[in-house]
Amino acid sequence: MNLEDYGVDMWSTEKIEDFRSKLLAWYDHNKRDLPWRHTKDPYAIWVSEIMSQQTRLDTVIPYYLRFLQWFPTIESLANAPQDKLLKAWEGLGYYSRVRNMQQAAQEMMDKFQGQFPQTYEEILSLKGIGPYTAGAVSSIAFDLPQPAVDGNLMRVISRLFEVEADIGDPANRKIYQEIAEQLIDPKRPGDFNQALMDLGADIESPKNPRPEESPVKEFSAAYLHGTMDKYPVKKPKKKPRAVRFQAFIIQNEEGHYLLEKNIHSDLLSGFWHFPIMENYQPFDSQLDLFSANQEGHFGLVAENIGHDYPNQGIPLTSQFEKHYNLRPSWQEEISVAQITHVFSHQKWYLDLTFGSIDSSDENLQLCTQVADKEVRWVAKEDFDSYAFAKPQQKMWQSIQQLEKNKKRQ
Ligand code: ADE
Repeated sequence: MNLEDYGVDMWSTEKIEDFRSKLLAWYDHNKRDLPWRHTKDPYAIWVSEIMSQQTRLDTVIPYYLRFLQWFPTIESLANAPQDKLLKAWEGLGYYSRVRNMQQAAQEMMDKFQGQFPQTYEEILSLKGIGPYTAGAVSSIAFDLPQPAVDGNLMRVISRLFEVEADIGDPANRKIYQEIAEQLIDPKRPGDFNQALMDLGADIESPKNPRPEESPVKEFSAAYLHGTMDKYPVKKPKKKPRAVRFQAFIIQNEEGHYLLEKNIHSDLLSGFWHFPIMENYQPFDSQLDLFSANQEGHFGLVAENIGHDYPNQGIPLTSQFEKHYNLRPSWQEEISVAQITHVFSHQKWYLDLTFGSIDSSDENLQLCTQVADKEVRWVAKEDFDSYAFAKPQQKMWQSIQQLEKNKKRQ
């Protein structure tokens, strides 16, 4: 690839060497003390890299330490039960990461005699490992001169060279990869990559960079030309699609809650949650559903859910009764709480509906046997042994808050 075609003016060999030594000298004095910087074990480094994607390092550290306690070896990860695996990742989000890790561990057992492979291409061949992770693990664990190109690194490089290529467009990655391959220090590739990571996370952060503190500011074209605010070039992303759900908080006579395991949808597959149903009523996500009406009542009336949309017709509460083979008594006033959760492509709005089942209900037993669903009555004291994803954790917090407020009244 010819970098000049992309308007990049590559430095001389001397300048590159000068850059490496200034960057590494700064790293040696300022590097963050992270637990995975005390090991050369490729398995542990891989765990740290996968966890750190889309997650702040402060959050990652306790998860990382516990993960290695629970699954200290490739073999233990390959054989981990699904529930324990999800529990280890509970709250971190982007759960396909840990499912892919287990598949990769199984591939290592089958194809690499239970060892972590040692070449860039073999590492890259594993499930869930892309060029960034393969570069990070192979440079940090095996000292291979492979850059680890992610959004952070592209941001730093785009400022160094005033690169015009949109960092949000995957097709442009190769430009940044090429520049990084020329810059990386073959003597200390792992440290070089991690120095750029540290720089990108702090001094060269996206929102509040402090370029005058950068150890390599004299190399930065954007700094020298006063164009820091122009780089990196990044087109705005599409907004996530708004999806509205009704969530059903149902208790039986013993106060146990109805929980369901997600076995149908890929998003949050395997996690437990209160039953939810998508509400197809068109809605305006800006609308404040929970302001008081003219009579001063908050919330909607359960009977009315679903009445306004002709295609669906049937209230969601009736749909619940049909799908779960249960006929709860619904609280008349539904949902004084709505919680939201943003995934990368969807924003969920969950309205909470409360109901209870008494022992005279003929269907009391049935609900554990509904076809194609895995449902259970669970005491709240036992919630800890179930893997809950973020939306469920938020719903549960909101319910506890509502209960506290009720007691105070
Ligand atoms: N982010 C992801 N991996 C990292 C590492 N090894 N050091 C610093 N930040 C990181």
